[in-house]
Formats: sequence, C-alpha cells, structure tokens
Amino acid sequence: MRQHPRTLRLLGSLLLVAMTASVTGAAPAPAASPTPLDRVVPAPASADPGGSPYRITRGTHIRVDGSRETRGVGEYLARILRPSTGYRLPVTAQGAGGIRLRIAEGPFGAEGYRLDSGRGGVTITAARPAGLFHGVQTLRQLLPAGVERDSVQPGPWLVAGGTIKDTPRYGWRGAMLDVSRHFFTVDQVKRYIDQLALYKINKLHLHLSDDQGWRIAVDSWPRLATYGGSTQVGGGPGGFYTKADYKEIVRYAGSRHLEVVPEIDMPGHTNAALASYADLNCDGVAPPLYTGTEVGFSSLCVGKEITYDFVDDVIRELAALTPGRYLHIGGDEAHSTSHEDYVTFMDRVQPVVAQYGKTVVGWHQLTGATPAPGALAQYWGLDGTSAEEKERVAKAARNGTGLILSPADRVYLDMKYTKETPLGLSWAGYVEVRRSYDWDPGAYLPGVPGDAVRGVEAPMWSETLENSRHIEYMAFPRLPGVAELGWSSAASHDWERYKVRLAAQAERWDALGIDYYRSPQVPWPAAGGR
Ligand code: ACM
Repeated sequence: MRQHPRTLRLLGSLLLVAMTASVTGAAPAPAASPTPLDRVVPAPASADPGGSPYRITRGTHIRVDGSRETRGVGEYLARILRPSTGYRLPVTAQGAGGIRLRIAEGPFGAEGYRLDSGRGGVTITAARPAGLFHGVQTLRQLLPAGVERDSVQPGPWLVAGGTIKDTPRYGWRGAMLDVSRHFFTVDQVKRYIDQLALYKINKLHLHLSDDQGWRIAVDSWPRLATYGGSTQVGGGPGGFYTKADYKEIVRYAGSRHLEVVPEIDMPGHTNAALASYADLNCDGVAPPLYTGTEVGFSSLCVGKEITYDFVDDVIRELAALTPGRYLHIGGDEAHSTSHEDYVTFMDRVQPVVAQYGKTVVGWHQLTGATPAPGALAQYWGLDGTSAEEKERVAKAARNGTGLILSPADRVYLDMKYTKETPLGLSWAGYVEVRRSYDWDPGAYLPGVPGDAVRGVEAPMWSETLENSRHIEYMAFPRLPGVAELGWSSAASHDWERYKVRLAAQAERWDALGIDYYRSPQVPWPAAGGR
C-alpha cells in the first residue's frame, strides 16, 4: 500500500525530531540486552546463563534476613542503586521476590556466594555477610554502568537470568597505600576503599610510617605524629591520623568487608621517628626531617633498650586500634642495619606483636632472620632477583611461613606503565596492563608449596602521587587484574578474554569519576565510554 504523502512528511519530521534529540545530547536508550553473567571482574568461578532476566523496578524491595550485618549489606546496595534508579528500594526483612540477601549453609566458605537471577528476583546466598557483600559487587557489575552515577538514569535495570557460583582462590587479596611519602586524608582513603571493594579486595595495608612521615598518633610518643608527621616528600605539610581518624578508616573498611593491616616499618625507614626523639638514635642526636626519596639510610638503634620501649608502646597502641589479625612490621631495605643487628631486632620485636595478640607480617627480607611461627612474608622481588634470595624465601615457605606475593615488576601500582607515564617510578621497569595480569601466583616462585601462597597484594608507593586522581590513574586498569589473580581460579586465567571484560569496566570508571590509563593493550569501547 502506498503511503499518503502527508503521512510520509509527518513521519519524516518525526524522524528528524528524533535524530535532532539524539544529536543534541539526549542519551540514546541503552541496549536492552543485559550484561552477560560472565562479564564480571574478577571472573566468577562459574556462570550458567538461562531463563528470563530480572528487572529492577519502582516496586523492587531489598530483602534481608534479620542480622545487623546482612542489613548493612542491603543498605549498602540500596545506597548504590537509589540515586541512579530513582527508586525507593526499601530494605526490609519481610516479603518475597525482588533482591534477596540470604545467609545459609552451603559450599560458600567465608567469602563465596551464589547469585540466582530470574523473572521473579535476584537472590544472593552466602554463609557469611562478606560473601553477600562480594555477591553485591557482582550484581553491581551485571547492571548497566549508569547505575554508578549519582543522578537518575534511564535504565532499564536488567540482570541477566541464570546462576553464578563463586568462591575466591586466595584469602589474602590486598592493596597497600603508602600514606607516608605523601599523606592522604581519611576521605581520600575511603574513596580508595570503595574502589577496592568493587573488585573484592579484602585487605587494606596502610604503610603508616617511613623516613618522610609518621602518620598515626601514638599517645605515649606524641612527637612521632605531631613532629614526625609534619612533612612529606617535597616538603608539603604532611599530616597524621588521630586515633579517632584511624578508627573511622577501620570502621569504613570493615563496612566494605576489608581488614586494615597497619604497617610500622622497622628497623629501617625510620627517619621520621628518629627525628622526633633524639634518644632513639645511637648517637643521641636527632636527624632533620626528610623530604627526599632516597631509601636505606635510617635505622633504629638496635643496641639501646629505649628502642624496645618504643617498639612495645607503638605496637601495643596500634594493636589496640586494630580489630584485624595482622600487624606489619616492615623489615625491608634495612641497609643501615648490620645483618647481626637485623636478626637481633627481629628476634625481639616479633614476640611483641604476638604478645599484643597479632600475627606478624613483614616484607620478605624477614626470611633473612627467623620468621615467627605463623608469620607471613610479603615478597616484593623481581624477575631479576637472585636465585639465592628467591630460594631463601622458598625455604621459609617450606618451613611454614605464608607468602603474600607482590612482585614489584608485576603488581607495584606505582611503576610507570610506559616511559611516557607522567607519574610513578620505573626502578622495577615499566609495567603495562598485560604484564601486571599475566602471571600465576601459584607457580610464581620456584620451590614454594602451593598452600604457602596466601594471596596477592598490590602496593601503591606514593613518592610521586599526591592526590586521588594520581592514585586512580596508577591503579586503573591494573588493580582489577591483581584482584582477579587473587580471586579467580588459575584455570580461568586468559589475557585475551580478560582484556574484553576489563574494557567493559571503563564505562563504570567513567560513571564513578575514576581517571584511568587508556592502555593500547585493552580494546576499550569505541566511544570511550561516558
Ligand atoms: C619495598 O618496596 N621497599 C617493600
């Protein structure tokens, strides 16, 4: 049938209006097909698609069982979903359907979960609230990236139908932030915590002391913070956390199911402490504060008793602020401490950590002394580290010392991506995105039993990093890859598939205001995301 010319003209002008609308910036309706269940970082252990998608609507409720912690996870999810959907999404213990967070016995372990999605609702089941929380991160990534925005977006809010079953490979999936070389505020640390949670990182290691700054208040040695914390690299004003600040970081991390691991680096990396108290120096003379970036020039005085009074007080006060199990005592780059003194010091200090109820973590140089029973060593070597040093670490692992793997030429997030990277250092080489992802923690160090590897951690040293934008540009896109190494099975490891899932995250970072390095190795969406 022929159209009447006037109808055609009308259709034409409607079309023109529609085209104009899209050209002038009205967002095009997002594709209605939901994100596939396996398009998640870290890769889930299994994803079986099937059945109808679930659609979050104005009538959706978030249903939680009675416990306070489960309700906390429900409220956390609601706070993510409400601004972008514009829906009320009440969190309630009553009724059926909608989004359900359920604690139940099952093969979930401490952090695993199961996610079932279908027309009637999405149910996340876990044995523990941490598992529900990780399941919520998966749900987040199954929703359109616009869900991360803080203003109402068009939707539709579809979750693909099917089932995900997921448990982590390792119990230690860490990120370290150096708040000493440059100080970061409580809010800056919280912002990073939120980014870590999205990728199921469960440890936040805070490097609280170094030559350039002491960042935690210690009541029995107040000048550590007030004087030792008064500057930073480049001579800026530095800063420190009061005990209330620090408790707030610990609380906030806990609400995101991250355990804070505090580090006081000893016996080297201690100029800020030595500058604050002359008595801590072997010669009784306090050095000036330090704002450069050299390492290895400072040492506590191993032969003086006051050193152990200091260590006892600091560890006691820090342990009292720490609900987590671990306390990191550093031990790296003690180039101004003799080997004999280093061993003496570690033999005396490790029992103090145990005395205050904590488990020792140290950088892997600790294996050059005698790691305490149950201690963990954090390996930060390179491909080029000597076979002898690697074997010393492997031998400790065979003798029961657990390992956290942080190879500097793979997962140091402060290493430049390429020689053009404006931030960061390059002493461990350039670390492009593929290099940071493409290794297996379970087979990394020769001679290490598989069960000695407790996990991975991505350190972020801050000699060149001064603000959240800097942190994010170095963390993204490498951090999600380290998170995946910690969470996902070795069998799922595949760069070609990973890079596609990683690329799909970019839209989410854009929505969250996270700047990232647009690595040419990753097939970013053509539009670059919005
Ligand atoms: C380190 O990078 N010195 C642990």
